[in-house]
Amino acid sequence: MKHLKPLILFLLLTVTSVSYAQNSKTAKMNAYIKALMAKMTLDEKIGQLNLPSIGFDITGPILSQGVEGKIEKGLVGGVFNTYTPEAVRKLQDIAVKKSRLKIPLLFGYDVIHGHRTIFPIPLGLSASWDIPLIEKTARTAANEATADGLNWVFSPMVDIARDPRWGRVSEGAGEDTWLGSQIAAAMVHGYQGTDLNKNNTVLACVKHFALYGAIEAGRDYNMVDMSERKMFEVYLPPYKAAFDAGAGSAMSSFNEINGVPASGNKWLLTDLLRKQWGFKGMVATDYTAIMELMKHGVGDEPQVAALALKAGVDMDMVSEIYLAQLKKLVQSKKIDVFYVDQACRRVLEAKYKLDLFTDPYNRITNTRSAEMMSADKMALAQSAAQKSMVLLKNQQGVLPLKSNAKIAFIGPLVKDQRNLIGNWSGAGDWKQAISFWDAVQPQYPNNKFSYAKGCNLLDDTAMITKLNLNGADIVPDVKSPAKLIDEAVSVAKDADVVVAFLGESFMMTGEASSRSDISLPENQKTLLKALKATGKPVVLVLMNGRPLTLSWENENLDAILETWYAGTRAGNAIADVLFGKYNPSGKLTMTFPRNVGQIPIYYNAKNTGRPFDEKEKYTSKYLDVANTPLYPFGYGLSYSAFSYSPISLNKTNIAITDKLQATITITNIGNYAGEETAQLYTRQMIGSVTRPVKELKGFQKVFLKPGESKTITFTLTANDLKFYDINMKYTNEPGQYKIFIGTNSQDVMEADFKLRL
Ligand code: BGC
Repeated sequence: MKHLKPLILFLLLTVTSVSYAQNSKTAKMNAYIKALMAKMTLDEKIGQLNLPSIGFDITGPILSQGVEGKIEKGLVGGVFNTYTPEAVRKLQDIAVKKSRLKIPLLFGYDVIHGHRTIFPIPLGLSASWDIPLIEKTARTAANEATADGLNWVFSPMVDIARDPRWGRVSEGAGEDTWLGSQIAAAMVHGYQGTDLNKNNTVLACVKHFALYGAIEAGRDYNMVDMSERKMFEVYLPPYKAAFDAGAGSAMSSFNEINGVPASGNKWLLTDLLRKQWGFKGMVATDYTAIMELMKHGVGDEPQVAALALKAGVDMDMVSEIYLAQLKKLVQSKKIDVFYVDQACRRVLEAKYKLDLFTDPYNRITNTRSAEMMSADKMALAQSAAQKSMVLLKNQQGVLPLKSNAKIAFIGPLVKDQRNLIGNWSGAGDWKQAISFWDAVQPQYPNNKFSYAKGCNLLDDTAMITKLNLNGADIVPDVKSPAKLIDEAVSVAKDADVVVAFLGESFMMTGEASSRSDISLPENQKTLLKALKATGKPVVLVLMNGRPLTLSWENENLDAILETWYAGTRAGNAIADVLFGKYNPSGKLTMTFPRNVGQIPIYYNAKNTGRPFDEKEKYTSKYLDVANTPLYPFGYGLSYSAFSYSPISLNKTNIAITDKLQATITITNIGNYAGEETAQLYTRQMIGSVTRPVKELKGFQKVFLKPGESKTITFTLTANDLKFYDINMKYTNEPGQYKIFIGTNSQDVMEADFKLRL
């Protein structure tokens, strides 16, 4: 007790002095910006809101013209798609040497899963369930991005995604709100580090605000119509987590929300984001989103400019509508100059926080090229790739492969490099990605490996034409499909085991890549059937950017390994996993449906009044397909197997201030050492509103040698059980709860407890 007083005093003093320092820092910034803005003309203020693309544009029309001249006139606040110190310096020189007020530029870029060193696509990374690792990949990306002159990244993408038809599920962390929130915060910390004024940090941009992952029918850019409850329970928390982690900027999304496009949505960008959540950073739109407000049908050009600005959009990405309209609108008193000032101030604040006013060149130097793709980064890429892979099936221990066996590696992706780094691979160079074939050959010099291409990635010419327009580089083989299959079958017949490398072209995933059929392309299925007919064990190694429908494959093949697009070191990591140097530990963060008709399908669904019961006709189910997914959320096998003891609880009736401790013992009952991710879910049995049948609330990783057991304890408090009650109040309700702990969202142990208030 007697030590407590000085401790409290010390803590109080620390908190007070930290907040004093913070206040004085903010006061200094405010004074600086006020003085600067006092010198600015209306044109220059509007100029700060202009965010053109210079370099190359991949996701929309190239509208930005004469950017260098505009920078000189003070009509540009930042640019994106320009990188390398030389290219960035050229533009920064114009801004700080030739423009009247010498205001430095922001340099943004889509650094999504690495910059030069490419990590697995975000959906893959999330399957590692390794939050420190994910933070490290963002930190590494920030290092490389700043070494390339950048100070702003359009990441993290934190859209909850439950419709695998949407190509952009590859860019996020999957379907779960809780896990998505942890990952969102970790990425912001990784990018922004501890202090944005350090020259290896970048401003993070949380996107796509908001609800872009819920677009109807999984068709890109489509509308979102959603209840307030669903927004707050499921879709909004990851954005909030990213802002709470200090993210300095946000990107307003393309979609409408209940009739109001996000990029002109005052409720979203001001009432919720700023007033309710206290966000103090800057908002830029997504690509040409202000211009698109006209197509949404909410105004002509002057109207949409006013709508976006008043809603809370600070920077206009590519549309240049602010530049064209805002001055006239202010002069004709259609909008108050207050709105321009407010947006301008926010942009300048971002620059101030990045310390650009002290040194506009603080991230522009030619001396950091050795940091790019350095050995430690490549090692991290390989480890991240290993950890992202998910073993979906492994019958009779066909995996790991025995290196002295006769193995036939078949498929268009065995030797492929182009697809390995996936979509949105920033400044990554696919030619530096290591193919599986190049990785595996030198490791096993006396091998009995054979190869056949087996099929083209795609034979559908209409699809190939579409994908190649955007750089998929699919070149059909000179040999006919029948010849390719014949060759593959004869190679397979001569082997002990067949390993087929198949999947999607990376261009079938990502933006504007929605699919209504998410199975493997037909020609690949034909190859698989021919391989199966040889009677040899067949292993399927998948590269793809979304959950696929794999019912036939699951039923007929011996093993399936999901590798996503695993990045620069994909080939090495796949070899490590296939031959057992790394025991797979990844767990799905998105449910794999049995067929597209089941979509949307996700683990934390509601029970309904007639929950599924096989024996009863009038229950919630399909006649033609099982209700369960093919692979549930959280699912992923290991070369070993883990058993779970029953859950033991320290109490079965907890008060609001109590800690509930749930203890479980996990044993490695297989023959390989490996890592298991034990997942904890809860269910509120009775609520003032209906509650999901399971909600993820935590997980722990344990590494176990064969035969080894470890006892782990999860601690839950009433806080973890809060939800939005019937009055949309975030609170606790007393009553009966269930707790589940297990290896995935379906296979769990369970126990009951009560919460009293
Ligand atoms: C995408 C964003 C991206 C932006 C800038 C848009 O088409 O939706 O995710 O950050 O382009 O490249």
